[in-house]
Amino acid sequence: MPDPGPPTTGQGRHARPDPSMFAFAQRMREAFTRMQMEHQFAVDEVLTKVSILREEFLHLHRYNPIEHVGSRVKTVASTLDKARRRGLELTPDAIRAGITDIAGVRITCSFIADTYSIFDTLTGQSDVRVIEVKDYIARPKPNGYKSLHAIIEIPVFLSTGPVPITVEVQIRTIAMDFWASLEHKIYYKYDGEVPEHLATSLTEAADVAALLDRRMEQLHHEVQGAAPVPDTRTATVDGVDEELLLRLWNDARDQA
Ligand code: GTP
Ligand code: MG
Repeated sequence: MPDPGPPTTGQGRHARPDPSMFAFAQRMREAFTRMQMEHQFAVDEVLTKVSILREEFLHLHRYNPIEHVGSRVKTVASTLDKARRRGLELTPDAIRAGITDIAGVRITCSFIADTYSIFDTLTGQSDVRVIEVKDYIARPKPNGYKSLHAIIEIPVFLSTGPVPITVEVQIRTIAMDFWASLEHKIYYKYDGEVPEHLATSLTEAADVAALLDRRMEQLHHEVQGAAPVPDTRTATVDGVDEELLLRLWNDARDQA
């Protein structure tokens, strides 16, 4: 018997592709590519917002509350996996509505107070709609996980008009971030079944991280209270130098 070869869709190996399948594939490719792009645009917008806040904060308060900003857009394959796990209909519309972390931005702050002030400033912007907030700093998860999560919606302006896109924003301190990345590695290494002694150790480490956060914040306040420590990275616009200021002073005096 000759080898029948790989299975086909039942119409023989050289059957013409089903035109409706071809059209479906085209539609899906277009819809998912669009979904990816729009979420990347939304991430770019949030990153711009955060960058503006960071620069302005630095300029106004001579202090940088943000240590690091990271972002990612889930791949289509991993978005589809999550949709399948959640039992969602595998259509672009159902996925957009049901998966809120296709676009993700993570902001790492120096101190706990900064996480809340960045959160308030960002979510207070008029084009940002807050869909859900989970404050795992005030109420940590049983394993010790701490972070401030917000699902927000922002408009992305396309040639056809604005499209609302959902972004998951996670805001945490350096200590919380350090803990979360280690916990994440351990969780994956053990496929979610973390041995008891490691889980206990992790929870204890989360307490130590929380203590470190409190101590660092106290120290920061003490030092700031004693004498403000200027951040030398304060943003100044190139060219606003002494000579220009002197010219402005002379002009102002002449006009008085
Ligand atoms: P998914 O976990 O994404 O299905 O969403 P959810 O509805 O459970 O939301 P939640 O706010 O609990 O978690 C969203 C994201 O926060 C996760 O995808 C992780 O990035 C992060 N996260 C939540 N819990 C933990 C945790 O225990 N450890 C670590 N390392 N990260 C966590
Ligand atoms: Mg979860």
